[in-house]
Amino acid sequence: MGFVLPLFVFVAYLYGVSAQGPTYATIIVKSAAKIAETDDQFICATLDWWPSDKCNYHDCPWGKSGVPYLDLSHPTFAKAIQAFGHLRIRIGGSLQDKVVYNVGALKYPCHPFKKMDKWLFGFTKGCLYMSRWDELNLLLSKTGAIVTFGLNALYGRHKTGKVAWGGAWDSSNAREFIKYTVSKGYHIDSWELGNELSEPAVGASVSAEQYGKDMIELNAIIKEIYKNSHSRPLILAPGGFFSASWYAKLLEISGPNVVNAVTHHLYNLGPGNDPHLVDRILDPHYLSQSTSDTFQKLQQTIKVHGPWASAWVGESGGAYNSGGRHVSNTFVDSFWYLDQLGMASKYNTKVYCRQTLIGGNYGLLNTTTFTPNPDYYSALFWHRLMGKGVLSVDSKASAHLRVYAHCSKSRVSSTLLQNV
Ligand SMILES: *[C@@H]1O[C@H](CO)[C@@H](O)[C@H](O)[C@H]1NC(C)=O
Repeated sequence: MGFVLPLFVFVAYLYGVSAQGPTYATIIVKSAAKIAETDDQFICATLDWWPSDKCNYHDCPWGKSGVPYLDLSHPTFAKAIQAFGHLRIRIGGSLQDKVVYNVGALKYPCHPFKKMDKWLFGFTKGCLYMSRWDELNLLLSKTGAIVTFGLNALYGRHKTGKVAWGGAWDSSNAREFIKYTVSKGYHIDSWELGNELSEPAVGASVSAEQYGKDMIELNAIIKEIYKNSHSRPLILAPGGFFSASWYAKLLEISGPNVVNAVTHHLYNLGPGNDPHLVDRILDPHYLSQSTSDTFQKLQQTIKVHGPWASAWVGESGGAYNSGGRHVSNTFVDSFWYLDQLGMASKYNTKVYCRQTLIGGNYGLLNTTTFTPNPDYYSALFWHRLMGKGVLSVDSKASAHLRVYAHCSKSRVSSTLLQNV
């Protein structure tokens, strides 16, 4: 047993306080026992698939940030990843369920995404060329990234209702793709199946019964392809918006040790063009209430229906539809982001993936210049200071003072404590 070195992060909203003079607060950190534990690599950021003509509210903030289009040789890009030592990167998003991998025998032609308003999510199917996948892996391995890849879970299914999709998942293309990936020696930490296809759904949904069976199939594929490897990747699902009944059913049907991490998405601030984004970000009651219920119920669902699994936030960008312009890429957004990192940790979330590393208005890096936005530094700060052990805190301070305590990451960071 080593010493527990608690480290604090104060996120304070001090607007109006100066007029009243100094106020004093009592904060008690209980360092005797951990209340939760995150993964060693808790901070994660996403890469999405959107082409440059993806627009919301007459704003097209994706540029060439999508996985097929990104300038992988931009010098800032590699450096931004390397600063974390090992940054988790999740490749996924709405269009992942329309991506064809250009390997093996194909059931659909492999063509780049094209804007088509009538199609699901406004685009045709897209293509991941293996030459692109090679380039991407070269960069990811060079930068020490820990990769989660979201597989196309609509492959082979057909529309059966307004949003419902039916039929079993056709795993043939994913199988060829995973086989190719392993044959090239590319290290994938985790394979995730599907993006936002659970119920309630945004654009397309699959029943929990069918999804559970598909997870059993993915597990069998992974077992077979990785049988000679010394480490086996994790399996993640469903990367959707949490509902207790759908998630419970998925865990029940897929059964023990199939889904290793249950992923869910959070967009608790509202649509990107909402004029009240900043008010919500700076409202402690809103911050406390808008996601704690989800975290708590997911923790409970896992405890009852899938104690073998852990909870991950697979995608979270604050404001949905590409983020809030002049909000998600500015300093004020960190009041939301850091609070989320603290809260998610308290509920035993192992990994928290920020939408996005680059792309949209919520990128940690600017879409065109690759310059870090304020939240990039918040992510890096958290990553370097906050250890795995989460401690409980009693605060008798104003609700505007948000306090979270973790064991420190190392002895070095405990020195930094004095300067926080
Ligand atoms: C990126 O930076 C440029 C230049 O500062 C700015 O005009 C643009 O709005 C930024 N893009 C995004 C998506 O934040």
